[in-house]
Amino acid sequence: MMLLIVAVTGCGVTAVDRERPTTEPTPQSSAEVRPSTARLNSPPPRPAHADPTPGVLAPPSPEPEVEPEVDCSAVKCVALTFDDGPGEHTEKLLDILERHQAKATFFVVGPNAESNPGTMKRMVRAGHELGNHTWHHPVLPQLTDAQVRYEFDSTDEVIRKITGNRTKMNRPPYGASNPRVNRLMPSASIMWSIDTLDWRHRDAATSIAVVKEQLSPGAIVLFHDIHAPSVAAIEPLLKHFAAKGYHPVTVSQILASSKLKPGATFERGDAPAPRKAKQAKKRARAKG
Ligand code: NI
Repeated sequence: MMLLIVAVTGCGVTAVDRERPTTEPTPQSSAEVRPSTARLNSPPPRPAHADPTPGVLAPPSPEPEVEPEVDCSAVKCVALTFDDGPGEHTEKLLDILERHQAKATFFVVGPNAESNPGTMKRMVRAGHELGNHTWHHPVLPQLTDAQVRYEFDSTDEVIRKITGNRTKMNRPPYGASNPRVNRLMPSASIMWSIDTLDWRHRDAATSIAVVKEQLSPGAIVLFHDIHAPSVAAIEPLLKHFAAKGYHPVTVSQILASSKLKPGATFERGDAPAPRKAKQAKKRARAKG
């Protein structure tokens, strides 16, 4: 049995001894992204996309629109995160986020990024954040060092070719990591504090109920934008956030006071300090 660190439902990461974590699905396009045993046991192939072609690289994207006025150490913030896409429902999700001026973070898998370049560019233009969710969506502790590096490098290369920028953060598939894998990580690993389990129940009302019940300042929420009911849950949640005074921000915004160093792991972000929160409330009251 291999010791894996697996993020489980609710807050935080728990070390559990199990063969295979079950908190997250393999992405829908499983034929493309699920590694075969043969692939796991042999050196990873280097795909054509990993060789940048001179002259066809996307220029670096302009800095995304950030909301500098959102200070998550002073006001309530929540970070919506979407894994395994982009997929067929992602454009609809981007429309919803745009209508509500909400920011989100997308942990994309290489093949889906490669086949949806327009959606990827739209995410960046809209000020959303991109993170690396590997190429084959493997259980990283089962891979060799070279294979772990390949999973992130190949995905980052595709993201860079499309958007002009590399990612600053990653999310290990299934939340599965260990000290060896952490040392190989090219960036900080972002887990979550609210697991909607959307991939399992595929029910918008259930996702909404889970988030409402567990919502607290600094929450990082795990969704999968490859499922229609997950996308259907977002508009009601954004209305709920607005009613409760929560700002939907990117992971970088919610972790603004943290150093996103490679190998570091985060499960939640800043929460307003009591004094700052009081001051912010006072200011809000003064404004009427
Ligand atoms: Ni995933």
